[in-house]
Parts: sequence; structure tokens; C-alpha cells
Amino acid sequence: MKAYRADLLDFASAPAWGDTQAEGAVRFRPDHWLLVDDAGRIAGAQATEPAPGVEREDWRGHLLLPGFIDTHVHSPQIGVIGSYGTALLDWLNDHTFPAERAWADEEIAARGSAHFLDALLAHGTTAAAVFPTVHKVSADALFTAAHQRGMRVLAGKVLMDRHAPDGLRDDVAQAERDCIDLIARWHNRGRASYAVTVRFAPTSSPAQLAMAGALCRADPTLYMQTHVAENRDEVRWVADLFPEARSYLDVYARAGLLHRRSILAHGIWLDDNDRAALRDAGAQVAFCPSSNLFLGSGLFDWPAMLAGGATVTLASDVGGGTSLSMQRTLADGYKVQALGGHKLTAWTALHAATRGAAEALELGGEIGSLEPGRLADFAVWRWSVTPVDAERQRLARLKGHLHEQVFAWMTLADERHLQATWVAGRKLYEDAVFAAPSSAAGGRG
Ligand code: GUN
Ligand code: ZN
Repeated sequence: MKAYRADLLDFASAPAWGDTQAEGAVRFRPDHWLLVDDAGRIAGAQATEPAPGVEREDWRGHLLLPGFIDTHVHSPQIGVIGSYGTALLDWLNDHTFPAERAWADEEIAARGSAHFLDALLAHGTTAAAVFPTVHKVSADALFTAAHQRGMRVLAGKVLMDRHAPDGLRDDVAQAERDCIDLIARWHNRGRASYAVTVRFAPTSSPAQLAMAGALCRADPTLYMQTHVAENRDEVRWVADLFPEARSYLDVYARAGLLHRRSILAHGIWLDDNDRAALRDAGAQVAFCPSSNLFLGSGLFDWPAMLAGGATVTLASDVGGGTSLSMQRTLADGYKVQALGGHKLTAWTALHAATRGAAEALELGGEIGSLEPGRLADFAVWRWSVTPVDAERQRLARLKGHLHEQVFAWMTLADERHLQATWVAGRKLYEDAVFAAPSSAAGGRG
């Protein structure tokens, strides 16, 4: 058993939209001890000192959260973050596809996957739904690197058999063989799950979409991930390519790709019928605010999703997004909602990035909260790192409004605030500047 002293924050249930109190949903336990057993599972939390002999780490004065869950991110796109000057379709052709082509090489895919997962951990993200590339080796490399770290990942070889340059296309038969082999070797192995990964409707032929749908039907425990209705030019292109479909989302629905384990990134340009289809299928939309702002894609309407009964999670969408930091993602999410006349509470945002995502992925028994029995995926954060956010925290604390304090933190914090990250009870990242306090020392920050 090991005990960690910090301000513990997680969620018991979903906070109501706009409710800054959210009593009952928010579980804030200041200066408590989180207990982790030797199997790397959370054993409990208590205000009192652990029994003598229990090993301890004293992070007093720090914030401890469940590891963040990024429900949509691209491992090979770290190298194209912050690429100037284009909207989605040109951005793919000018920056993204050239970068992805290199991942046909096993060595590049292995090194890149390790770099990517270590970067997630260095941002306090312990679980992710990941797009590697069209190359089978890129999926193998990602699963291997995640397995070595004990990380929870959902991923799959990207399917794209048309409208992509040479070196980035598969074909239906080869793609099917690759998927079947990857599923056999990685689905439900350790903490990996296979996600049938359709890049987006324009880059898969109807035959490939049908093959992907058949894979999902054959095994309902598989995930499915793709992009939908991100950009207006993209939506028009899909309407031209699939005139028989009622909408962009309907292309996926008709192919059997819309189900309770489907993750659809963006979903900006959907209508009420689409939202009802998402609700009926139990599928989730991954809201990618940083990417949507950076690529000028549009303003996602979260309350419309809620009204339609569809589930929303949060995602960085790097490299369309400009940071792996989930705090930055949430802060951008707040701003996008504000432009639509809505206010996103820190509670709804942080819940969606932890327990909400875990439950949407049907992984609530494993990740997303600090409840006993969950694997101990968590991160310890400094409340402030600069004179500006230190003063903001001091004033919020004086007022004694927890939401104000946590909202200011969510808005101002990023990876500089991260002290350390644990995966299944193992510390896999530690800030090099602020070393761990000894068990006798008080916390910093
Ligand atoms: N649509 C198809 N591929 C991509 C991608 O890599 N990033 C984003 N943001 N949208 C996409
Ligand atoms: Zn994406």
C-alpha cells in the first residue's frame, strides 16, 4: 500500500450544465490521503494519516486529479502542430499527409510512438483514443509503446483507400487483413482496445466503409473512431461523394459504424436528426476546441448536443489542435462556448475530461475517478506557477468559492503545472525542475 497526500478532486456523477455548485457531483477532498494498493489500484481515500509502515508521498498543497482522457489525438502529428495558413482540407494535404507518410518506417513509428505517449504523460493525460497512420506498423508501434508503459489506449490502423497521396493508401482486402491481425493481437490485451479507425468519409470508398462496418458488427466490443462534420468544405465534399446519404453522419450510420463505442471527432455541422442518431446509437462526439479554433472550422454547440441527448467528451486533436494540454483544451472549450452565448463550468469540463469520458467509453470501472477499485491513473498538479496565477489563486481562496478557484486554475494552468503522473500506481513522469518532496517535506506551490 502507498499513500499520497494532496487536495483530491474527482466526480461522483455528471454535474448539471451551468451549475457551479454541483453538490453531490463534485468530490473535493482537501488535504486527504489517496491510498493505492500494490496491484496499482485505488484502495480508498481518508482525511487521517495512514497507518504506520504505509509508504507515503506528501503532496500537501497540490491538486490531485484522475489522469486526463483525450478522446481524439493523432500520434504522428506532433511534428505538424502550429502549421501556418490553412483550413482543414489544405492543412491535410500540405502538412499532415506528408508527415504521416514517414510512419511507414518501423523505426520512425516506434520512436515517434514513444515520444508521443511520453508527451501525453508529461501533460497529465493517461488515456487516449489515438489515430496513428494508415501503416500497420504505426498501429503496432503505438500499441507496443502503450503496453510497455501500461497505458490505457484505444487505437487502430487508419483506413484510407482513396483521395490520399501515394504511400498513404491501403485497399479493402489488405486493410481488412491488417485489421483482423491487429485485432487478434491487441484488442483487450492488457489495457489496449482496438478501434476501427476510418480517417473520414472522403478517404474511404463505400466498399471500405462496408468492410469497417462488418468488423464492428462481428465484434461489438470494438471501438470505432473517425471525424465528422468538422469543416464546411469537407461537409460539401461528403455530400457530393455520398449523394444517397441524408447527412455526413448518415454515411457512417448506413455503413454500420454508428454504435455505443463510436467516437466521432468534431461534429460541428450536425443537425437535430444527427444528434438524435447519436443519442439513439449511444455514440459520443469528441469536442476539439483548440483544433476548431486553429483550423477555423467552426463553433461547436455543446448545449445543442445535450438537448439532443448526445454525449460529449473532450479532445486535443493534435496536430490540428495546438496543445496536448487538457487544461488548455478545456479553456479553449470555455471560449468556444462563450462565443455561442453559453457558459461551460469547470465541473462540466473536468468531468468530461475524466469520468465522463471514461463512462462514455464504457471504461468507468477502470479509469476516470478516484473510486476504490479503479486503476491508479492520476496526476499531481501545482495550483499555480507564476506570480499572476498565484495571486489569482490566493484571491479565489480568500473568497472560499471552490468553483472560482478551480475555474481559474483550469483557465490558467497547463503542463507547467504538472508535478508528476502515475499509471496504474507507477510514477511514469516527474517534473525535472520541481523534484518530488520527501515524505517529511511539505508541498510546494
Ligand atoms: N479529418 C480527416 N483527417 C483529419 C485530421 O488528421 N485532423 C483533423 N483535425 N481532421 C481530419
Ligand atoms: Zn483529428
